[in-house]
Amino acid sequence: MSASAAAEPPPLIELQAVTKVYGEGQAAFQALRGVDLRIDQSDFVAVMGPSGSGKSTAMNILGCLDSPTAGAYRFRGMHVEQLSRNQRALLRRHYLGFVFQGFNLLARTTALENVELPLVYRGEARAARHARARAALDAVGLLRWEKHTPAELSGGQQQRVAIARAIVTDPTVLLADEPTGNLDSQRSHEIMDLLVALNRDRGITVLMVTHEPEMAHYAKRIIHFRDGRVDTDHRHREDT
Ligand SMILES: Nc1ncnc2c1ncn2[C@@H]1O[C@H](COP(=O)(O)OP(=O)(O)OP(=O)(O)O)[C@@H](O)[C@H]1O
Ligand SMILES: [Mg+2]
Repeated sequence: MSASAAAEPPPLIELQAVTKVYGEGQAAFQALRGVDLRIDQSDFVAVMGPSGSGKSTAMNILGCLDSPTAGAYRFRGMHVEQLSRNQRALLRRHYLGFVFQGFNLLARTTALENVELPLVYRGEARAARHARARAALDAVGLLRWEKHTPAELSGGQQQRVAIARAIVTDPTVLLADEPTGNLDSQRSHEIMDLLVALNRDRGITVLMVTHEPEMAHYAKRIIHFRDGRVDTDHRHREDT
């Protein structure tokens, strides 16, 4: 390796020949068949592809919720596949935020308390927790709904609470698996506008799975999975 290459900072995320096999023996199924992927800081990637093509499997590995069967995952040059379960949990807690299709909010808990949760896990003091959670709710336009429980909020509002919860820790990467999957068209566009703003204004790297081309269009880069591999990888928008 040349000296100049050695001096370059490592990419944010790098997958090399990542495979994932679920089950064993006769029942074994290879969900990822050799994925190579590099994602730089502040990118906005939409992941598309047919059902069963490995999108969620790849997201779970990128989100350190699951480990590859083989291959390398480097996060800022750190070998994630060599970390212990506890170290992976720390990496998750400090660098990653998650948004899911089903919102995953606690039912009998206010919007504010839901957003505070990741800070509780981090052991932050009550006053600091409160201030940061309120700032996050403000960022998604829901400050006046802080006392409401999920049942008292619309689907779009619930997803915005979930996004506030994901960004309250100032993550480097936001992983969203079909974040608009349960929303109507107008709510979906509102959520996408919010993700674009977080990417643009805070430099948060966004990785989002979607089945909808209209939503993928908000991303800077679109990756198509097919049969457990990256089929196409196009950059269609530079910084707005
Ligand atoms: N925990 C598991 N155990 C066994 N097989 C699994 C498991 N999770 C996923 N699979 C299989 O791996 C393949 C890829 O699944 P994955 O969830 O990654 O697909 P996907 O691209 O996200 O699909 P969708 O668009 O339907 O969400 C599928 O064939 C699925 O049945
Ligand atoms: Mg999926």
